Amino acid sequence: MKRNRQPAEPYRIKSVEQIKLLSRHEREAAIKRAKYNLFQIDAEEIYIDLLTDSGTTAMSNRQWAALMLGDESYAGARSFRRFEATIRDIFRKKFVVPCHQGRVAENLVFSSILKPGHFVPNNTHFDTTRGNVLHKGGVPVDFPCADSASEEAKPFKGNIDTERLEEFIKDKGAEQIPMVIMTITNNSAGGQPVSMANIKATSEICKRYGIRFYFDCARFAENAYFIKRDEAGFANKSIKEIAGEMFDLSDGAMMSAKKDGLSNMGGFIVTDDEELYRKVTELMILIEGFPTYGGLAGRDMEVLAVGLEEVLDFDYLDFRIEQVEYFGRKIKEAGMPIVEPTGGHAVFIDAGKMLTHIPADQFPGQALSIEFYLEGGIRSVEIGSVMFGTIDEKTGKVINAPRELVRMALPRRVYTNSHIDYLAEVATSIFSRKNEITGYKITKQPEFLRHFTCHFEQSVTKTKTAEHELG
Ligand code: F0G
Repeated sequence: MKRNRQPAEPYRIKSVEQIKLLSRHEREAAIKRAKYNLFQIDAEEIYIDLLTDSGTTAMSNRQWAALMLGDESYAGARSFRRFEATIRDIFRKKFVVPCHQGRVAENLVFSSILKPGHFVPNNTHFDTTRGNVLHKGGVPVDFPCADSASEEAKPFKGNIDTERLEEFIKDKGAEQIPMVIMTITNNSAGGQPVSMANIKATSEICKRYGIRFYFDCARFAENAYFIKRDEAGFANKSIKEIAGEMFDLSDGAMMSAKKDGLSNMGGFIVTDDEELYRKVTELMILIEGFPTYGGLAGRDMEVLAVGLEEVLDFDYLDFRIEQVEYFGRKIKEAGMPIVEPTGGHAVFIDAGKMLTHIPADQFPGQALSIEFYLEGGIRSVEIGSVMFGTIDEKTGKVINAPRELVRMALPRRVYTNSHIDYLAEVATSIFSRKNEITGYKITKQPEFLRHFTCHFEQSVTKTKTAEHELG
């Protein structure tokens, strides 16, 4: 399908929300006050917010109308039944457990099946998934496919390495592995999709060894779009049919519906496993709510039922994925190296490659995302050693992330292509003085998920290369 231009938005604007660019002086004060952590800045101080595509979606007129249909009954609400029916139809599983967001689904599932020392393989864990596995004493292990580290723009770089997965299962023993997870699309590996062939191969391995196979499917519709576009044999199938095929290969799924649920809040678990359903719902009554609302209002479930239908629309997905691609092309034209091809929900800039004078332990990704704020009021997020750096317990040595990326996630149905052109101008300006950018150090951090709350300070020590390049 060759086109000469981006498709135009397949919707028109009915309500607008004002945004404002603060002055450079105000932005400098704001980031300093936030201890150089972009999670700590007030949203009002941001002009274009690309921190996340999660919960930031613009709702449709149908969703706003659905809000009024919310049945707020504590038990057996009509809104739950509608939510359940829609999810059963798309995800093809018997039990549907609403949760207020994805990480609760993770917590409930892992609390029910994980014992300390258990391993959980994944193509790549997202940070909350990793955090929740660790919190239950489990060991998260990632098996991204070899192509995921490749510089070439190959399709389906989100795949899991099935050979390494099988070797690992043989080595550790299936009884030590209560679940294999497939994250679609693979957020931490650049939002890259997973092919149906890879899902099928993984499903077969799991069946052979008697291990549960679950999806972390926050962006399942975007993944299905890539399968339709890029995998042989799927061009004539609908997104819904492809999604159905994917879910038929799994035993269940955990979903943060704040992404492809096209809503501002919500999540769920789906499974055919009655025993797991029982355990999860017992625990959920204690910590999240009755199983027919799970921390959501009835109106939230109405909105999600509509959102999950809307996200399957081909024209919507076609515009969405093409907009991300356009954004990536513009950032590349500005000179910045990006992860290619662009994935489903974000452009990932390779700050490690761009800011070679800043070593990983001075967080080039953090430095670049701070620059985007200072230069253009843009908020992005570091996905590198701030988020994934760890300390080797035996040697005490710092282990850096494999890549130092900055993620610019596009909220759904929110920004237009002229916002993207503005972002590209900011990128061009930053790139022209990249050698002047300095690194950062962490001055304060919590035990888990440090990137949300840690404090930074500009690191004064410039490396030799930087001094040299600066002359
Ligand atoms: N799984 C994936 C793949 C995710 O991307 C996220 C959230 C979660 C699980 C957790 O879901 O936020 O609803 O509790 N990702 C957001 C992001 C936060 O910015 O990528 P949640």
